[in-house]
Amino acid sequence: MARPAFYVTTPIYYVNAAPHLGHAYTSIAADVLARHHRQRGDEVFFLTGTDEHGEPVALAAAAEGVEPQALADQNAERFRALMPQLEASNDFFIRTSDEQHVAAVQEILERVKANGYVFEGTYEGWYCPRCADFKTAQEVAEGNTCPIHNIELTRENEQNWFFQLSAFQERLEELFDGQPDFVQPKTRYNEARSFLAGGLQDVSLSRRGIDWGIPVPWDTDQTIYVWWDALLNYYTALTYAKPGEDLAARFWPANYQLIGKDILKFHAIYWPALLMAADLPVPRHLFVHGFLLMDGEKMSKSLGNVLDPFAVIERYGADALRFYLLRDVPFGSDGSVSAAAFEARYENELANEYGNLAARTIAMVHRYRDGIVPAAPLDAKLASDFEGLPEQVAELIDKAEVTQALETIWERVRRCNQYVEERAPWTLAKDDATSDELDVVLATLCEALRTLTVLLAPWLPASAAKLLAALGAGDDSYAAAAFGSGSLAAIEKIEPMFPKDPDHAS
Ligand code: ME8
Ligand code: MG
Repeated sequence: MARPAFYVTTPIYYVNAAPHLGHAYTSIAADVLARHHRQRGDEVFFLTGTDEHGEPVALAAAAEGVEPQALADQNAERFRALMPQLEASNDFFIRTSDEQHVAAVQEILERVKANGYVFEGTYEGWYCPRCADFKTAQEVAEGNTCPIHNIELTRENEQNWFFQLSAFQERLEELFDGQPDFVQPKTRYNEARSFLAGGLQDVSLSRRGIDWGIPVPWDTDQTIYVWWDALLNYYTALTYAKPGEDLAARFWPANYQLIGKDILKFHAIYWPALLMAADLPVPRHLFVHGFLLMDGEKMSKSLGNVLDPFAVIERYGADALRFYLLRDVPFGSDGSVSAAAFEARYENELANEYGNLAARTIAMVHRYRDGIVPAAPLDAKLASDFEGLPEQVAELIDKAEVTQALETIWERVRRCNQYVEERAPWTLAKDDATSDELDVVLATLCEALRTLTVLLAPWLPASAAKLLAALGAGDDSYAAAAFGSGSLAAIEKIEPMFPKDPDHAS
């Protein structure tokens, strides 16, 4: 039987500036889904990349006095380099300046036109050059400003090609009503649904005054409005990521498309309409996460309040950053980030809970049993606390609940530390009469540590690999997460996984 396919995407990021923590956040979450599905044996494709055309990039390049392509080349490299630093296991990195993408976008839009959804018209209204967004009346904040970027909107009056979005009013309503998990979480579904209920207006398909973009194939004086070019990446990437193979047949429609709430309208409304207009199936799920906030404001390059993910990784490693972001900012809600909160999670949870569980378990097996895990029966009480855990995690991941899934595992990390206190192996070790009991406790702790580590691997890939190697447990597949499925023997000592003072760790 063919393995299930799982296709997950992040937004493609604008190359108008360097990557920041907000970009890292979505990429890490997508990576957790990708890694978990690989553990389950699914055939996974994980896409990320950069959005290089249009006003946001053209304006930034002009401000720096460089050509847009030069700015795009420079910053695309920084986004590409971010991924391995985050331990993000993306299968491809798309750049919208790739010539194959350009050709595919032109071809798909020709089809949309041939299907009768393109006409000439005039756009009059408010526009945010940072969002590259034609704002509807409801989307304009006080004083005609952008609610996302806090800048003044410009008034546009432009003759260009239009996409007949209004033609999809009914089909989108059917999509939302028939597929209530199309947009998650529910709050974002409701937001998109009420945008739809307000009635759809047609949207520009091209721009007249913007040269930095893909030429409209039937009218090369104009370029394609950047959002159509950008959205299509999720599909076009599959057509050329693997030379000689069209992955679209295998992976389209996407299972999960992760986005921030700033780009909901484009993904929940424009995107499915465009796909319908091109006779393509719509994605199964969009998951819309919240904003990382600093001092109560959205973290963004233009607001100047950014934390540099490269700096955090350099000091503490990618796992610590991955853990902190997905644990502290509930996936789907807004959440504040700060250096103090990072340090608290690192020390209280990674070092003192998980790191300490690993350290004390391994140390006791060495102290009392010469580093050999006793071949003893497992404690039924602890086993029952682990019952059904892999299934619970998988169920949450199937809903992209990456914070909840992590919490579900973490409850068991805490349970194990409590078990150590309850059973006090150091007391059992003092008396020959309790030697069998000590064997049970040590074997149980090792097995618990092993299964927890298999389950945590998608969040903490580097630490999990290190610890599983020390435990002599090669199998990190989902099946190996079942409590009692392991057969540990000799285990090795390791350096502290999350040293208190990483600068002075060996
Ligand atoms: O919008 N908190 O690109 P972009 C959480 N190119 N996530 C954040 C964030 C924050 N403070 N800041 C950014 C674009 N993000 C378009 C997308 S897709 C076809 C085109 C993340 O560089 C989040 O995923 O502005 C958000 O949606 C995305 O970066 C926006 O990145
Ligand atoms: Mg943005």
